[in-house]
Amino acid sequence: MTLLVTGGAGFIGSNFVLDWLADPATANETVVNLDALTYAGNLRNLASLQGHPKHVFVHGDITERALVDRLLAEHRPRAVVHFAAESHVDRSIHGPGAFMKTNIDGTFTLLEAARGFWSTLDGDAKAAFRFHHVSTDEVYGSLQPGAPAFTETHPYEPNSPYSASKAASDHLVRAWHHTYGLPVVTTNCSNNYGPWHFPEKLIPLMIVNALAGKPLPVYGDGQQIRDWLYVKDHTSAIRAVLARGRLGETYNIGGWNEQANIDIVRRICALLDELKPDAAGSYARLITFVADRPGHDRRYAIDARKIERELGWRPAETFETGIRKTVEWYLANGDWVREVQSGGYRDWLATNYAARAASAA
Ligand code: NAD
Ligand code: TYD
Repeated sequence: MTLLVTGGAGFIGSNFVLDWLADPATANETVVNLDALTYAGNLRNLASLQGHPKHVFVHGDITERALVDRLLAEHRPRAVVHFAAESHVDRSIHGPGAFMKTNIDGTFTLLEAARGFWSTLDGDAKAAFRFHHVSTDEVYGSLQPGAPAFTETHPYEPNSPYSASKAASDHLVRAWHHTYGLPVVTTNCSNNYGPWHFPEKLIPLMIVNALAGKPLPVYGDGQQIRDWLYVKDHTSAIRAVLARGRLGETYNIGGWNEQANIDIVRRICALLDELKPDAAGSYARLITFVADRPGHDRRYAIDARKIERELGWRPAETFETGIRKTVEWYLANGDWVREVQSGGYRDWLATNYAARAASAA
């Protein structure tokens, strides 16, 4: 048995691949990992799999139809688990083109290739095949304070080029099921955090900036709310949906953990004060309010009752346990941080933060 994973060298994809091959229940299944190794993909995340007989890494792009066709024909996977995407909202504001290409065109290419392969199957293999599309809660748009959390039937109201491209991909997946009968499942998850998270996103950026004594740039008033989920809980939820999710359904995945950005940043500072005290004083001194993100969504919240009711999944980590593990991981993995901060990372910091002068908010 084989899985074709896309984007398995990125943050969530690499956690998924590592967890899959570490679990005795699935460790005998080969993972073919197709990843273009953009700035966000990093083979060091998978260093522990070097020479692993069940991990086949393929450096390539999901928009290349001939490549995807070849991989499907050669490896005959029982499922495609599709993580590959451009994933950062701020980058989508500066350069939306790559998001349209990978997130929309790439998903279209995979769906067409999967449909072609699936149509050659019969019997049990055809019935068992799955196309699992990994998506985000951002497709639902922004919630007012006190409004009920996103359910799976919440209207799609994406507000950023990133979320619009993910919404488009969700619609394609839905249509390929409805029109062609392709056996799909989609999951829409809230903000993840944990090991191997590229330090352009809020939590790892704050940890690595604090350790470097750099400003901690909080957009706007810092009162934007996100639901945060430890990445290993996301990978366990995907496994549950892949194994037992109903065809054509979507499942929201969340941590029951809504928090304002400024509270997240303060919590990280407090943990660092405990684990790596700085002679200059609390890391909170570095908090700097900067110009807001254009079109910044105010609040996301996930109602994760469907996946609990149908599949019995709930997060194993609380935010307290997850964020402590995460900060400890970054303290223990300075080499990884230094490596991903080389090259293009610096250009990105200049692009995103140079124009955001510190504000009084
Ligand atoms: P990431 O940016 O860390 O990783 C993306 C991976 O995809 C990288 O390894 C990159 O090299 C690869 N990739 C990009 N373009 C590609 C292409 N054209 N062909 C092949 N590979 C390509 O992203 P992530 O945070 O791990 O997110 C994974 C998925 O989960 C995405 O679909 C994202 O929308 C979704 N998601 C992320 C979060 C989150 O908080 N990070 C939350 C919910 C859903
Ligand atoms: P991010 O990690 O980029 O995820 P997303 O935009 O997909 O939710 O950002 C999380 C929140 O943190 C979001 O409200 C924007 C905010 N943020 C900052 O305040 N400062 C920063 O430097 C970054 C990267 C994000």
